[in-house]
Amino acid sequence: MALPSTARESAVLSGPDFLVLAHRGASEECPENTLPAFERAVQLGADGVELDVQLCEGELVVIHDEKLERTTDGRGTVAGTPLEVLRRLDAGDGARVPLLAEVLDIVAAPLLVNIELKGPGTAAPVLALLDRLGIEPARILLSAFEHAQLEVARTQAPRWTRGALFGRLEGVDPVAAAGAVEARTAHLALRTVSAERVAALRAAGLEVLVYTVNEPEAALALRDLGVRGVFTDRPRALLEALGRR
Ligand code: G3P
Ligand code: CA
Repeated sequence: MALPSTARESAVLSGPDFLVLAHRGASEECPENTLPAFERAVQLGADGVELDVQLCEGELVVIHDEKLERTTDGRGTVAGTPLEVLRRLDAGDGARVPLLAEVLDIVAAPLLVNIELKGPGTAAPVLALLDRLGIEPARILLSAFEHAQLEVARTQAPRWTRGALFGRLEGVDPVAAAGAVEARTAHLALRTVSAERVAALRAAGLEVLVYTVNEPEAALALRDLGVRGVFTDRPRALLEALGRR
């Protein structure tokens, strides 16, 4: 399979390093998906960050769960809460639920920002925001479990690099599914990784990223399998194990 046309766009993905991507920011040290977590990831020297984006009153906010209870002092759903109320919530240690634009502002090039599109209808507003802010395509990797969102991105704005996100793989052909949306990367759950699967994805021209990898030994083993990088809550520990701190 030929590499998708977006492959050349992503400078970080084509760089030499095994990528350490801070999952929801440096989320072991700071409240997940908050500006302090992303600032800490930058400070530690991570290669990039992963974040979860949802819509709240048409605004793109960075929060993982559909419900507010686990990560904030609010109650109810993100979609059902007025933006003004959501923005006043405490997302941990006094930090607020950030806007996507605020995270893009502090995680500057050359770091990669993996924007996970959570939920229907997130792709188009993300594409519009990236355009409006004049974001360089090489900084961004769009991903989603819901591949329909990646298909929206492929058809509306193919220059943005796409990553096909997978959970359980029973009955799924990840090579075909990633190929269908012309993804550059396949994002696998750690429990689904095997040498054969990584080899098959790489043979199809896909880079493999694995989540969520918090043990340094596991990261080193994945690197030896040809995995391109990992999402981790513990960027500091992994960077140390890789001799980069
Ligand atoms: O993108 C990798 C990982 O973040 C996907 O799972 O539930 O942490 O969003 P989740
Ligand atoms: Ca995520």
